[in-house]
Amino acid sequence: MVIIHYFKLLAMFLVTSILLTSAFSAAHSKNPSASSSIEHRVDSLLTMMTLEEKLGQLNQLSGRWDEKYITAEDSEMIKQGRIGSFLNVAGATNTRKVQELAMKSSRLRIPLLFGMDVVHGFRTIFPIPLAESCTWDPVAVQQTARVAAIEASASGIHWTFAPMVDIARDPRWGRIAEGSGEDPCLGAVMAAARVRGFQGDDWRDPSTIFSCAKHFAAYGASEAGRDYNSVDVSERTLREVYLPPFKAAVDAGSVSLMASFNEIAGVPSTANHWLLTGLLRGEWGFKGFVVSDWNSVAELQAHGLAASRSEAAILALQAGTDMDMVSRIYQNELVTMVCENRVSEDLVNQAVRRVLRAKFVLGLFDNPYRNSNPAREQSVILSKPHVDLARHVAQKSIVLLKNDKNLLPLSKTLKTIAVLGPLAEDKIAPLGPWAGAGRPEDVVTVLEGIKSKVSPQTRILYAKGCNVNDDSMGGIVEAKNVAQQAEVVILVVGEDAGMCGEGACRSRLDLPGVQNELVKTIVETGKPVVMILMNGRPLIITWAAEHVPAILETWFLGIQHGHAAADVLFGDVNPAGKLPVTFPRAVGQIPLYYNHKSTGRPYVDDNTSTSKYLDISNSPLYPFGYGLSYTTFSYSDLLLSNSRIKANDSLRVSIEVTNTGKVKGDEIVQLYVQDEFGSVTRPVKELKDFRRITLNVGEKRNVEFTLTSAQLAFHGRDMNFAVEPGTFKVFVGTNSAELLETRFEVVE
Ligand code: BGC
Repeated sequence: MVIIHYFKLLAMFLVTSILLTSAFSAAHSKNPSASSSIEHRVDSLLTMMTLEEKLGQLNQLSGRWDEKYITAEDSEMIKQGRIGSFLNVAGATNTRKVQELAMKSSRLRIPLLFGMDVVHGFRTIFPIPLAESCTWDPVAVQQTARVAAIEASASGIHWTFAPMVDIARDPRWGRIAEGSGEDPCLGAVMAAARVRGFQGDDWRDPSTIFSCAKHFAAYGASEAGRDYNSVDVSERTLREVYLPPFKAAVDAGSVSLMASFNEIAGVPSTANHWLLTGLLRGEWGFKGFVVSDWNSVAELQAHGLAASRSEAAILALQAGTDMDMVSRIYQNELVTMVCENRVSEDLVNQAVRRVLRAKFVLGLFDNPYRNSNPAREQSVILSKPHVDLARHVAQKSIVLLKNDKNLLPLSKTLKTIAVLGPLAEDKIAPLGPWAGAGRPEDVVTVLEGIKSKVSPQTRILYAKGCNVNDDSMGGIVEAKNVAQQAEVVILVVGEDAGMCGEGACRSRLDLPGVQNELVKTIVETGKPVVMILMNGRPLIITWAAEHVPAILETWFLGIQHGHAAADVLFGDVNPAGKLPVTFPRAVGQIPLYYNHKSTGRPYVDDNTSTSKYLDISNSPLYPFGYGLSYTTFSYSDLLLSNSRIKANDSLRVSIEVTNTGKVKGDEIVQLYVQDEFGSVTRPVKELKDFRRITLNVGEKRNVEFTLTSAQLAFHGRDMNFAVEPGTFKVFVGTNSAELLETRFEVVE
């Protein structure tokens, strides 16, 4: 018996050795023949695996947060082949040591996959995704994702839990900061750009990492903007609003998706077979793997769906959740469940196959240490081109909300400038939530940025005024005194990074603490005030919008925050960012978004009974797509190639845009459509395309778009995706509220 067992193991070892070295060498490329050989190799490996080893591949554990390393118990589990992936183990040296355990001490020597939340940069921290979306520039966004991948991969990471592509219409929800805002079209463009950036175009390139579009799905629709809360959206809204960025990520080749924490109409995503298998794999043809969110398999019990851990395991696996992030439930429960025939081993095999396939695709069997390269780590992290890109994209992410009497840009030779506010000298907030491996010491503050920009003769005075979020008024008087000594005041206010992101929701969205008092006191001095906002969501700044002459929305811009802000403040860069999300006037208006429905009683601002409030208008403070420039643009000659088209035809839309101001500038030209009458009601307008253009002073440009039938189609009453005959409005302009308009008709 013992001898037979020994020979069996020896044979397996030899086959394994052959399989895991030369025979897998073609596994890297994206061509079809390589894929068929990967299938063969996955199958062969699978036949050698015990059930425990298979479940090991589906088990992801977290390293220690502080050390980015693992425990002694985890080491033992790796040796037994009971862990397939880690998150939060990072660094070229750490990941190599941990990978060595798998490669040298486990029976089948299956490499580990190292994941991490590299959401807006690894060490070179870029603007938060919401800010980056203000660029409306997918090329720039793809570049930052690429750089994030270059740095993370050199530090041992194979896989990022990004892009976060959740559409969010509720700024109370703290995670709005991590996504691209409220619009499915802009969100889809940004999602695809980030996937392309992370994953590159050749798996053999060691700087490619897997992306993971998250959180699938509708996580941003949590009731009352409270994180983890229930979601109840119709299938139509799901398909039209929340799913398009995921579809775009899948079409761009995202290797993985993460199931969301929330339920949708009673079914938590982690256990949602319709979502993870029917729609994702069946309808969309997704071939990658799905990871749960942190502990979300276990949370099926708290949801009230699973009565036990074993039931949770079965429900999640059956739904199509392949990898279990940290709950250890697959590892601990599924052996018994398979042995008792409560779940089939075939289902386990399917999930394991998907995970192994990914490891082969990345070439980990050939070179398990490809991403653990201290020399590369040293040379790429915070390299000059990366830092330059961080500054460039931060400049592009800034939105000029107000600029009365052209207060901005400021002169660099002013005699005295007062820089005030609790965030002017802050080195942590600009890193935003999910700061990756970012460090405060890498951050250029607004105060530093201003100091390095102005003339040597300019005096910069500084006072903090107050803290971000407490009620101490002690510093406000000093700030007022400082303001009185200056020609201009730059007031840096907003949220700290911990006030947005996961679990960081707010019921009040005005400036926290006593910052409103600070703003009012400084404005009362009569000095010209420029307010710089630093925040992760739209804030309610109605008073400031009326009384402060100039406002710059800078969000959390990453390590180059201060330089980018100063570049815009002093006119070296003309701001061109546009809001990817509506700014409400009051929390009571939420959710407020531009692509709403008309209703049977559309809003009229009079005393009739229409869809409105008694105490506030329906209009936003700043609409979706809004943002000013130091120059002005005029729009004219909106023309269509045809006034009638057939349902499967395309239509060309053109417009003349002219720079009518005094400086060169970028404009983001936006195209919206309304299907006027449908078998189901349609939004009052929907973004369909956009173009970021640069115009010299006086330059006029003809901007042309092509509207395709896919852009005009929607899910009709029967849920069929088709173009319905009838009239359509086309709008083109500078933001979702200031648009030229024309019409065309789709005929049978
Ligand atoms: C978050 C995910 C994240 C995961 C791993 C969860 O709590 O919802 O977005 O990727 O943790 O850090």
